[in-house]
Amino acid sequence: MATNRTFTMIKPDAVQNGHIGNILAMITNGGFKIVSLKLTQLTVADAQEFYAVHAARPFYGELVEFMSRGPIVAAILEKDNAVEDFRTLIGATNPAEAAEGTIRKAYATSIGENAVHGSDSDENAAIEGAFHFAGREQF
Ligand code: CDP
Ligand code: MG
Repeated sequence: MATNRTFTMIKPDAVQNGHIGNILAMITNGGFKIVSLKLTQLTVADAQEFYAVHAARPFYGELVEFMSRGPIVAAILEKDNAVEDFRTLIGATNPAEAAEGTIRKAYATSIGENAVHGSDSDENAAIEGAFHFAGREQF
């Protein structure tokens, strides 16, 4: 059964560029309810663990360095069909391919520094949400 939650991060580039408020507005205007929210920073070890699935990819080292270089916003979001609908709202990984109206089209600057994360499955949404939030922080 599909769950109705997904997990997102506003990545260090978008936080640094002052886009937290606008991205949260796009998320809530898109029909997502925020059930957990925090400003935090990943250590190198956190970023390595979070992106362990990409460990063999050529961009892994750069990705870990980027994701740990400054604060991020972590959030759990709720909506019917949350995972798929949120992937639609954020747009393609490469902003050059992201559709008009998507968060990455508006705020991503490159395929690496692409403003936001969105879980790719219900299973990963649960794992990634639990990585950042205790049960009592999920509302
Ligand atoms: O984030 P998304 O699920 O769209 O893409 P991914 O394939 O799961 O890759 C995770 C992240 O690695 C991306 O969001 C980019 O930040 C980075 N990446 C990269 O730097 N270069 C690539 N060719 C692909 C991904
Ligand atoms: Mg992914």
